[in-house]
Amino acid sequence: MKGMHVIVGVTGGIAAYKAVDFVSRLRKQGAEVQVVMTEHATKFVTPLTFGEISGHPVSVSMFQEVINWDVEHIALATWADAYIIVPATANIIGKIANGIADDMLSTQVMATKAPVFICPAMNTNMYENPITQRNLQTLRDYGYHIMEPDSGHLACGTSGKGRLPDPAAIIDWFDFTYHKSQELAGQTVVVTAGGTQEAIDPVRYIGNRSSGKMGYALAAAAARHGAHTILITTPTQLAIPMGVQAVTVHSAKEMKQAVDEVFDDCQALIMAAAVADYRVRNQAPQKLKKQEDFTLDLVKNPDILKEAGQRKQKQKLIGFAAETEHLIENARKKVDSKHLDFLVANDVSQQGSGFNVDTNQVSLVYADGTIKEFPLLSKKEVAERIIIALSELKK
Ligand code: PMT
Repeated sequence: MKGMHVIVGVTGGIAAYKAVDFVSRLRKQGAEVQVVMTEHATKFVTPLTFGEISGHPVSVSMFQEVINWDVEHIALATWADAYIIVPATANIIGKIANGIADDMLSTQVMATKAPVFICPAMNTNMYENPITQRNLQTLRDYGYHIMEPDSGHLACGTSGKGRLPDPAAIIDWFDFTYHKSQELAGQTVVVTAGGTQEAIDPVRYIGNRSSGKMGYALAAAAARHGAHTILITTPTQLAIPMGVQAVTVHSAKEMKQAVDEVFDDCQALIMAAAVADYRVRNQAPQKLKKQEDFTLDLVKNPDILKEAGQRKQKQKLIGFAAETEHLIENARKKVDSKHLDFLVANDVSQQGSGFNVDTNQVSLVYADGTIKEFPLLSKKEVAERIIIALSELKK
């Protein structure tokens, strides 16, 4: 969202307080934010609060003292890359759907050419009222983006649908919906993530340091580019990205089974998971008792990617390699032996690259010998480049 111009419209509902956190998060992501409030919204949170949080004066009335000499509702509407209303009451939804422009916010929405995002929040009966539903449908039909409200306890004391989602969830939805493209529309992309867990007994396992961050960023990027995205993941601390179907597995054998189930019908498999090469031959059925020394008997795991390479037909295959030396040489061997379209080689000996960090430095090593090198980037940006590279592969 860096450099993006966002207008946040705030209307008069109790959830207006959550919009303060939302604006703050938008700015932390690098967006420039201007806030417009309805008169009723100012009864819940003052314009001063939003002015401080956004770093800009807040517009409320069409007739307040001018902030700049452009026609303000038009100037701001043109400045915006996106317009998002958080929270949106039944009243503003009704006004926009019926072409009413009688205050600064509703006038700007009518004047802007930017995409408009609406986050409804209201009492369940009001939300479910057929008039509200008809108004929301009208807005959808005109191309407005509507976020589904949460269900739960509402400020009016009842419980049901109509609660404004948490600001972090609104950011995810807004980012996902704004950036969604169609390069991979109609394609199924399978991504694996996390480190496999090879059980020793019911409470212990052999694992590795993979956090899943790289794989989750890839799944988010694939979904953002319009793919039906299946994320096969070991247990992690991360939230499943928007628009992604997730399957949880533990061991390499379970991961292989999950990949096998979807492989024939997918167009691409991206193996970002750190898969254990070995598992314990005989898992103990009960928790092992402490003893002086003991030896684990390990047996080789199936190589999921290699076997996919042997049976692939139309599928594109992308592997990862975490190396500490001879990065490109080792990567080339893996591209050949696993029949990959390209391999993402990460030098995990470098600071800020590889396991359990938010950044990665990678090179893409292609089957024809081409190498594309990238600087240290956030995993989100690395994922974006990998998904673009995937969409550019010849069909
Ligand atoms: O999860 P993060 O904390 O964000 O960290 C990301 C990562 C460092 C784990 C990721 O970027 C990465 O490099 N993953 C691959 C780790 C690795 O070293 O893979 P490998 O060289 O053992 O295997 C090569 C490829 O074969 C990988 O795509 C792997 O998924 C696959 N493989 C490996 C073994 C096996 N039995 N089956 C496989 O399919």
